[in-house]
Amino acid sequence: MIGHIYIQITQLCLASYPSLMAAETSSPLPSNITSIKTLAESPGLTSIPATHTFTPDLHGQVTSVPEGSIPVIDYSLLISGTPGQRSEIVHELGRACQDWGFFMVINHGVPQKLLSSILDGCRGFFDLEEEEKQDVKGNHVLDPIRSGTSFNVSVEKAFYWRDFLKVFVHPVFYSPTKPAGLSEISLEYSQRVREVARGLLKGISESLGLEGSYIDKALNLERGKQIFIANLYPTCPRPELAMGMPPHSDHGLLTLLIQNGIDGLQIQHKGKWVNVGTHPNSFLVNTGDHLEILSNGRYKSVLHRAMVNSKGTRISIAMAHGPSLDSVVSPAPELLVSSKGDEPAAYIGMKYKDYLELQQSNKLDGKSCLDRVRISAV
Ligand code: OGA
Ligand code: NI
Repeated sequence: MIGHIYIQITQLCLASYPSLMAAETSSPLPSNITSIKTLAESPGLTSIPATHTFTPDLHGQVTSVPEGSIPVIDYSLLISGTPGQRSEIVHELGRACQDWGFFMVINHGVPQKLLSSILDGCRGFFDLEEEEKQDVKGNHVLDPIRSGTSFNVSVEKAFYWRDFLKVFVHPVFYSPTKPAGLSEISLEYSQRVREVARGLLKGISESLGLEGSYIDKALNLERGKQIFIANLYPTCPRPELAMGMPPHSDHGLLTLLIQNGIDGLQIQHKGKWVNVGTHPNSFLVNTGDHLEILSNGRYKSVLHRAMVNSKGTRISIAMAHGPSLDSVVSPAPELLVSSKGDEPAAYIGMKYKDYLELQQSNKLDGKSCLDRVRISAV
């Protein structure tokens, strides 16, 4: 029964990205392409391989939103504001999660210098010799350190203009040993960002009418999974034909992203793609599938994607925060009763580890993974 439902939903989901299907070829990743970085650095590159080409209409119409309409959260007020300021910020957080699934965080207290050091450290990793990067290639989606190109080349038919390094940094901290110094900076960065994420999740719990510590306790954030994802999007000679990362939602609760001075992140808002732009010193935060599940759909995970450009190489660091691997996440029972009566659970419970494995082993495809636990969509 579940299998049958899943097939129907998947078809529906693919149908909403027709140009993605049309663009796909069936050639495997050419064996000489180990990274987009080396490909992009080929002398005189003026076109991109067919294996990396998507039809231009895939990019669709991008709307610009009026300056200042993307929600901004002042973290310092959440942590040390007066009770009045705090409750105002909790309210703003709730609205941002509900209306956008996305917000920027300012005054977060993580030093600017640490942000630039970690971006430099990642640049150093991508600049290593290809053989050195192959040392941390990883074989399985749950290997603690993995690097590679695209998202999951074993199941993709067209490849993204992206190289990545993906490292589990909590509850057990891992790091590649090269380049020198990356490990220390990454440890400090991971701890500082985790603290901000937990502060935000506390405010988000309250915005749902729950205890501040609700999410922390229910999903065992003391042992929460934190994943460090560095993305490299090299300068591309034909950006209109390439895709950095396709439309997807993140599997966890909250992802906090920073980038070097080059933009490329777009979020879907009211059915339209919106450029987020560059915001030095802010965290760009998006909600993930497990916040949608826990909140029984009040806070939907946001679809987002990464575009590439011909102006310069972009590096972003996405820090994903999820429940502990053994948490079985289902909608908070407290949210299933309201003044209007009982509200049915819209998602079935699934162990976070199983969800993570499922999402990482498949193609990155909109919210198709979430559809597997959704009940009311059928
Ligand atoms: C991600 C992601 C977007 C970006 O790593 O999950 O969505 O702009 N990255 O790099
Ligand atoms: Ni993402």
